[in-house]
Amino acid sequence: MKAFVEKWWLKVLIGFAVVVVAIQFVPYGVDNPPVTDGPEWDSDRTRELFDRACADCHSDRTNVLWFEHIAPVKWYVANHVKEGREALDVSTWHTDAGSELDDLTESIEEREMPPSYYTYFGLHPGAKLTDTESRQLIDGLKATVAADPPATRER
Ligand code: HEC
Repeated sequence: MKAFVEKWWLKVLIGFAVVVVAIQFVPYGVDNPPVTDGPEWDSDRTRELFDRACADCHSDRTNVLWFEHIAPVKWYVANHVKEGREALDVSTWHTDAGSELDDLTESIEEREMPPSYYTYFGLHPGAKLTDTESRQLIDGLKATVAADPPATRER
């Protein structure tokens, strides 16, 4: 018994492991409802750039990486995707495309989007747009919005 008490760190470790396993059962994560809507993209290029740099957080086509299935990272990602979709969601373009569409292209121009943390540790390398690619995405989004305006909903 004494030997076990002395191994206090073992108890801490077991306690920690129990908590880590238990939190995996909290049913909060990214959901990807079936996609039935989307903008008429002005070109395949715009869609490709959007998919590379924005779609994970601003559509219902979120690609969740393996370690992002593990709580608490899972909750963190789910929360970001939720907030991102509230601001802008191309998968509900004709019903409720989001509350912050006014800043759509400024967010790229000012390099606020995609958020810097998205490409930390070499993650999502395709989202690091060059100046030319940023320009193409900005122009493409403007053309897309002009030809197929998104629907906004009063909140
Ligand atoms: C890793 C997730 C993620 C990616 C990738 C991402 N966004 Fe966002 N975006 C968010 C979140 C979260 C918010 C809401 C909170 C905030 O403003 O930071 C947001 C907000 C916005 C807004 C609302 C205005 C603003 O700046 O807050 C716009 C417009 C936007 N994003 C456009 C884009 C575009 C365009 C891309 C691709 C170039 C992109 N986002 C990529 C997560 C993301």
